[in-house]
Amino acid sequence: MNNKLWTKTISTFRGRLVLWYLTSVGLIILLFFIAVSGLFWATFQNQIDHHIHIVVNEAYQIVQSYHGQERDTLIKNLVSAQGMTVIVLSPDGAPILETNSPDVALITEHQLQKLLTSSSLHSSTPTHFTESNIRFAARPVQVNAGKGVVAVGYSTRILYATFYKMLGIAIAVIIFLVFPITFLGYRSLKKQLHPLESIADQAKSITDTSSLSQRINITSATQELNTIQEALNTMLKRLEKIFKSEREFFSDAAHTLKTPLAVLRSQLENTAITQKLRGELIKTVDTTNDTIQDLLFLSQLGRISQSIEVFSLSTVMANLSELAMTLGEDSRIKVVSDIQSDVQFKADKKLLQRALSNIVHNAIVHNQSGGTISLNLIKKSKHIIIVIQDTGIGISERDLPKVFTRFFRGSNAKNQGSGLGLAISKIVIENCGGKMILESKINEGTTVTITL
Ligand SMILES: Nc1ncnc2c1ncn2[C@@H]1O[C@H](COP(=O)(O)OP(=O)(O)OP(=O)(O)O)[C@@H](O)[C@H]1O
Ligand SMILES: [Mg+2]
Repeated sequence: MNNKLWTKTISTFRGRLVLWYLTSVGLIILLFFIAVSGLFWATFQNQIDHHIHIVVNEAYQIVQSYHGQERDTLIKNLVSAQGMTVIVLSPDGAPILETNSPDVALITEHQLQKLLTSSSLHSSTPTHFTESNIRFAARPVQVNAGKGVVAVGYSTRILYATFYKMLGIAIAVIIFLVFPITFLGYRSLKKQLHPLESIADQAKSITDTSSLSQRINITSATQELNTIQEALNTMLKRLEKIFKSEREFFSDAAHTLKTPLAVLRSQLENTAITQKLRGELIKTVDTTNDTIQDLLFLSQLGRISQSIEVFSLSTVMANLSELAMTLGEDSRIKVVSDIQSDVQFKADKKLLQRALSNIVHNAIVHNQSGGTISLNLIKKSKHIIIVIQDTGIGISERDLPKVFTRFFRGSNAKNQGSGLGLAISKIVIENCGGKMILESKINEGTTVTITL
């Protein structure tokens, strides 16, 4: 399995579950195999020991009681039918009798020689050992008036053969049982976990306030997933209620303030005060009115039915460039634009225009006199990228994270704005499925990048 696939597998719930039970089943089979083989090995060896023990004692009696040809014939008769090996060593360590032995030379050099020197003639219990895959029982015996050794051996190869057979069976069980079970388990888990994936997908599709009315809907028989579904839906319901009452509050406040402001404005026009004072007061009333309009607009954003159309984004950008030139005329702001032609986009044109003009407006207002604004539009594969850059006063690091907050106005704010411009732009762009990033350095300028 390559590295990527492995990482992908263990990063999923399903992969981890399968891995977990595969390891468990594998471990259980392995432990079972070890236990059974250990038990089998011990029992079999006991059996062999028991038999060679009896035979070595009988061979001992023969070696003690008979000599020469007669002894050899009796011993050969004793073991030939049982497939055992008998070795008799003379006191000087040389073999004087061997039956069926595959490699006696090796054995006599080791354990039997040792036995010849270390054991006493009077010890009556045979010593057991394994040498060259042969299990032996050996005991000292009187040979030619000296101390010799008689040993009876039985091949343990049958033990290995049985062991390998069992290993084969275990591997066959793994191949024919564990792998199919794993495969089926993996497939069935996919089905079981489908509702969970469905919850995640549905939750992901709730991206803005307008989609808060959606509810998560799955068909699952499992209690846990139903609980998650219920909890998420209750949360969505509460959020929807909060957002709705917030919107209603803004809308009510805006509507309530609109009329008295209009009255105030008309009264100001007819009041006997100096022209300068009247101008200032009317300007204040107008700014307040703009704020109220923005507030009303913001409260309606999620609700108003949008008129989606395909339009030329290139033309919208060109118009913005003209707007920037007009607005920046007084401060001698240079406008540089690099707009790719024929870039089409599908959205509510008026809303997007408003979002972009808010950004251009900021770039003009917060620019230095004689500064530059650059407007770029480029389409790269599936993405449309809009960059609006200015060489203005920039935003301090402290203010930067807050610029999208409603009513936030930075310490550098110049004109009489409401602090709603960027909040509106961000919501509109996100409603279009886009992303907006604002980067800024104090005294160097600000760059707004929009990816649609
Ligand atoms: N291009 C920019 N250069 C420097 N500061 C900026 C720029 N754009 C935004 N800001 C800072 O971010 C704050 C928030 O901007 P936003 O557009 O939301 O509000 P505003 O411009 O103050 O008011 P309005 O609602 O009239 O747009 C501004 O007050 C200003 O401090
Ligand atoms: Mg603004």
